Amino acid sequence: MAKPPLSMKPTGWFQVAWSDEIGVGDVRTMKYFDQELVAWRADSGRITVMNAYCEHLGAHLGYGGKVVGEVLQCPFHGWQWNQQGRNVCIPYQEHPNRGRRIRTYPVVERNDSVYLWHDVARREPYFDAPDVFAAFGDGSSAADYYPQQRLYRRSLELHPQYVLENGVDFAHFKFVHNTPIVPVFTRHDFGDAVSYVDFTITFEGDDGQRIEDVNSGVQAVNGGLGIAVTKSWGMVDNRTISAITPVDEFTSDVRFMVYIGRPGAGAGSDPARVERKAREFGQEVIRQFTQDIEIWQHQRYSDPPALATAEYEGFTAIRTWAKQFYAEQCYEEG
Ligand code: FES
Ligand SMILES: [Fe+2]
Repeated sequence: MAKPPLSMKPTGWFQVAWSDEIGVGDVRTMKYFDQELVAWRADSGRITVMNAYCEHLGAHLGYGGKVVGEVLQCPFHGWQWNQQGRNVCIPYQEHPNRGRRIRTYPVVERNDSVYLWHDVARREPYFDAPDVFAAFGDGSSAADYYPQQRLYRRSLELHPQYVLENGVDFAHFKFVHNTPIVPVFTRHDFGDAVSYVDFTITFEGDDGQRIEDVNSGVQAVNGGLGIAVTKSWGMVDNRTISAITPVDEFTSDVRFMVYIGRPGAGAGSDPARVERKAREFGQEVIRQFTQDIEIWQHQRYSDPPALATAEYEGFTAIRTWAKQFYAEQCYEEG
């Protein structure tokens, strides 16, 4: 296995599920950042992600644990744990154990996803998980798009940073995605935990065209290493979310989501056909992403890399930016 020299426990927001995978009353087991976790949804609809083991005698709450109103009840002796991980009831004793707490994680639900904040130093979230609509400040919303199309690949040998580095890697588009010409980056803003990359790109025409004449492109917003959202312009209206979450020291789960814009009023008299076309285009966007995955899952992180002159600035910027998410790795997990 190609264990990446980069830490698999970076700080930030990471997707751990889709919202519709965890209904009210559901308890779902998962493993991320080398931790056994459970996610459960209370009657109020609120979701909690916590370490999986009961602080009493260590039962795994994901195997028989039950949601009771707003708490999770352990299958072993019925102790109940609230959304802060506090013990609130021992059924055979008057007082709960107020001292013991199961570790919980900050969670947000956004764009049909469940995002978890991971930080080995246990700081509170200090940046926001990007929203595929709000991030672009254009007043758009899910109502303007067909339902999300999804790709889910489990436990691949790749690191989240590989995926982010695509955002400066102009040279791969021609070879991996068969674009006719090399795209040009028009914005690289790595000043903050949330970073911005824009580029001009086309998937059409031949290699005789000039990039200056291309009228289409992509804007990307990276919320740390875990979540990147994109918006296209000048081509079929699409938005994407890529979300890469470390599972253990070797592998990550990859989730990729595509939204295709609904046509404006009056356009197209055959809604079923328009929707089918949108579906096909979404699948094409997903197919292009799988071309990247094929590279990433067999890649070995090269550090320092051998770079062409034109690559130096972008790769240096993104790798310097990425370092902030590996800070304070000496804290113990638990
Ligand atoms: S192990 Fe959970 S209640 Fe005993
Ligand atoms: Fe790519």
